[in-house]
Amino acid sequence: MTRDIEQRKRDHLILAQNEDLNFSISTGFDRWRLIHNALPEINLKEIDTRTKFLGKDLQFPLLISSMSGGVDESFNFNANLATAAETVGCALGLGSIRAALEHEKARDSFLIARKKAPTAIIMANLGIAQIMDSQSIDGVAAFCNDLDANALIIHLNPLQEAFQPEGDTEFRGALDSIRRWVRDFPLPLIVKEVGQGLSTQVVRKLQDVGIETVDIAGAGGSNWISIERERLAEDRKVLRQAAYEFANWGEPTAEILEDLDTDLCVIASGGLKRPLDLPKALALGAQMGGIAGVLLSQALSSDADKLIEQLLVWKKTLEMVMFGVGVSKIDDLIGNRSLLHKID
Ligand SMILES: Cc1cc2nc3c(=O)[nH]c(=O)nc-3n(C[C@H](O)[C@H](O)[C@H](O)COP(=O)(O)O)c2cc1C
Repeated sequence: MTRDIEQRKRDHLILAQNEDLNFSISTGFDRWRLIHNALPEINLKEIDTRTKFLGKDLQFPLLISSMSGGVDESFNFNANLATAAETVGCALGLGSIRAALEHEKARDSFLIARKKAPTAIIMANLGIAQIMDSQSIDGVAAFCNDLDANALIIHLNPLQEAFQPEGDTEFRGALDSIRRWVRDFPLPLIVKEVGQGLSTQVVRKLQDVGIETVDIAGAGGSNWISIERERLAEDRKVLRQAAYEFANWGEPTAEILEDLDTDLCVIASGGLKRPLDLPKALALGAQMGGIAGVLLSQALSSDADKLIEQLLVWKKTLEMVMFGVGVSKIDDLIGNRSLLHKID
């Protein structure tokens, strides 16, 4: 890996922890309240948060969204995330595997995840630029096989790339490439954004080319345009100034969910900050929630204990919400908007 890419990955881990670079607009979950049910007619002991994803069991519908891999720091980081995913029974998306495809020594920081999480759902990740040109399907499939990955996530991040001087900004033909990979790649493909969101129209186009699962990754949390802005050198004044205009650019996650009318499997991520955001996302129609930025600082710490505790709070909150609104099974929560009140 070139020094530049290594440095970029390190910068990302540091800058993404700075909450001042998050969106100042909200995801929109604060405009929804779950309706308390004083007569739930269920026993707390029967609450079951388990769900199925990609044909496997999860203890609760949460995805640790793609973050890192390929630099020295990612080894312990991914080991912690994988240990936590295995312990609590949630799914794990790894960061872009591009580095591992190009450099042998970058592989271990990804493969450690499968060692630490032998039974968890683990998904590899690649940017659309790699799907469009340089990577062969066979090469990616071989690494996914070594990782025993359950799926490949493709990220679409046009504006993040546009604010990187070295970014890949050729998006002509992206949808056709996805169509080709859906046909030829041996694992399920999931398409996500990185925080600007997949609009209803984009989701429809992805469905047309055969994608069955999308992660909408909307606005309200980590903002990759603002993060790239902070990485721009002083002599990039014009690009930097323009980036300020995009500090709140994107489709807020809860708004996408509210408008989305699809039979695809939808993962809701982007700005889920509080554990209560997860049941709201589910009631708005998502099958699963995804979180990245809120896990960063615990994932960077020396062991996985605090991370496990943090994830267990998300699970416990979900259980308590289900009791509080009066549903015992996750399927009775998903898409059940009668459990929500919109605050005007
Ligand atoms: C440090 C860091 C690195 C990331 N790297 C990737 C990546 O390699 N591939 C990807 O698809 N998304 C990547 N993301 C984006 C997240 O998966 C997620 O879509 C985004 O941060 C929005 O979610 P959040 O508001 O919960 O952070 C990264 C996020 C963080 C915090």
